[in-house]
Amino acid sequence: MENISYGQSLLEVALKNDIELHHNCGGVCACSTCHLYVSTGMDFLEELSDKEEDFIDRAVNPRLTSRLGCQCLLLKGSGEVEVTLPDQTQFLGE
Ligand code: FES
Repeated sequence: MENISYGQSLLEVALKNDIELHHNCGGVCACSTCHLYVSTGMDFLEELSDKEEDFIDRAVNPRLTSRLGCQCLLLKGSGEVEVTLPDQTQFLGE
């Protein structure tokens, strides 16, 4: 991955690196189409907010490692963050 710096969201990082991640609300925590699973590095991400949790509940197959890509801002520091994108083919839109 290139051009990664703190303060960016995982959604931004994905899009910059040509990884398609849906973002129907434009990244303002008002949908759940940017849902992803963080398998490593949760400590390097901005903490989960109540609002984000609400939308995760509405996502398809939420798990303990679920996050919304647009709400996961990278914190300062260095380490590895590993994410898995769920199947997004059922979403229409951006
Ligand atoms: S893009 Fe809508 S919640 Fe992330």
